[in-house]
Amino acid sequence: MKTLRHPFPIRIWHWLFAPAMILEVITGLSLSYPNPAPGLPNLRSVKKAHFTVGFILAGLYIAYLFDRRKYPDIFPTPKDLFIGLPKFLSYEFFLTKKKPKFEKYNPGQKFLYTLWLFLIPFLLVLGLFLYLPRLFMRPLAWIGGLNNARRLIHLGTVVMAASISGHIFFGLTHSIEVLKSIFIGSFNPQKQ
Ligand code: HEM
Ligand code: HEM
Repeated sequence: MKTLRHPFPIRIWHWLFAPAMILEVITGLSLSYPNPAPGLPNLRSVKKAHFTVGFILAGLYIAYLFDRRKYPDIFPTPKDLFIGLPKFLSYEFFLTKKKPKFEKYNPGQKFLYTLWLFLIPFLLVLGLFLYLPRLFMRPLAWIGGLNNARRLIHLGTVVMAASISGHIFFGLTHSIEVLKSIFIGSFNPQKQ
């Protein structure tokens, strides 16, 4: 029997947010390592794209917070940490053959989505500080100045890039039914 796994607004949100976040990470890292090779956009265009997408991401992130139904699904519990996570890891590292069953999200997903819930606003706020440094002189001084803010946003972006790679890998390889559900909404738990 098919059930609705991802309602329409979440699917639209996901497919607006995913390319925007990937673009933000790529443009951010090209600000860290500017490359003047012919054929690549110049730094001014990269900055413009980075700022525009940054504001779009901020809007989408705020919209995401309003979907209160998802919180019980994504916050890990002590049971996820002490029972679910070892089960999940032993399956992922080929120590057991039997695929464990979890509620909507497995413990790996729960930890990842919770990490993003905090990491994304951290990056958005740091980006805003770098964008308007005079206005945010005080908080910038608290975190050790502009250079430290750039170091922190850089570090956070590397964590974001690595975790997105993991998310895409698992999204594409874990279960075709679940992958379909982020496009069409419904899925069949028996076929998972
Ligand atoms: C093209 C690459 C991507 C693919 C194939 C993909 C695939 C998926 C799939 C299959 C799910 C559903 C998981 C499930 O129901 O168990 C999902 C959920 C999710 N994805 Fe992605 N994803 C991609 C990129 C991204 C990016 C770049 C982000 C942003 C950092 C992202 C954020 C999320 C979030 C937050 C959810 C949970 C949505 C919710 O139910 O609240 N995804 N993704
Ligand atoms: C998830 C969101 C974001 C990510 C992943 C991100 C990533 C980055 C990275 C990696 C850098 C380069 C740091 C360095 O090594 O020097 C950077 C710089 C910067 N970002 Fe972002 N950023 C984000 C959001 C924003 C937002 C919302 C804004 C404001 C509109 C913004 C404005 C800036 C500015 C002004 C710089 C400095 C550019 C320069 O050095 O001239 N960022 N960002």
